[in-house]
Amino acid sequence: MSVAIYPGSFDPITNGHVSIIRSGLVVFEKLIVAVLSNPKKQPLFTVNERIQMIREVFPKEEAQIEVDSFEGLLVDYCDRKGARVVLRGLRAVADFEYELQMANMNRHLNTKVETVFLMAKDAYFYVSSNLVKEAATLGGDVSKLVPASVADKLYAKLGR
Ligand code: PNS
Repeated sequence: MSVAIYPGSFDPITNGHVSIIRSGLVVFEKLIVAVLSNPKKQPLFTVNERIQMIREVFPKEEAQIEVDSFEGLLVDYCDRKGARVVLRGLRAVADFEYELQMANMNRHLNTKVETVFLMAKDAYFYVSSNLVKEAATLGGDVSKLVPASVADKLYAKLGR
């Protein structure tokens, strides 16, 4: 079975992530969506909240999508899961440098792990979790940029 790990912060999952996951399922039989648990970062949502939100977006895809969290090196997590492919989404060119650095670092750390990139849907080319959070915090309408269930939780978290 072809399996890829789709890692990220997902704080919170956006429609851009959703589009990459849907495209990923065209290419791979199974995706492990892996939420980074980083004790050094101050996320808006806890790891469990982020996992729950992702699961809620894909209620029918349980057999193809596993949602999990990981700490430490991504390539070590790949080893633990027996996966050889990391899936990442590419948006505007600004992503390229950062993604190239990460893919090269991961290859340096573990030559058996390959990174595969898929393009985000053009409507979501400029959507990021950070911008969504900033816009929502300042009273902006982000309901077209994240799944409805995520928008509800975002507004609730921000006391809107
Ligand atoms: O959604 P993000 O924040 O762009 O995802 C970044 C992520 C989680 C893929 C990256 O930070 C990561 O893999 N972190 C784990 C630590 C690691 O393996 N670092 C070395 C490779 S750069």
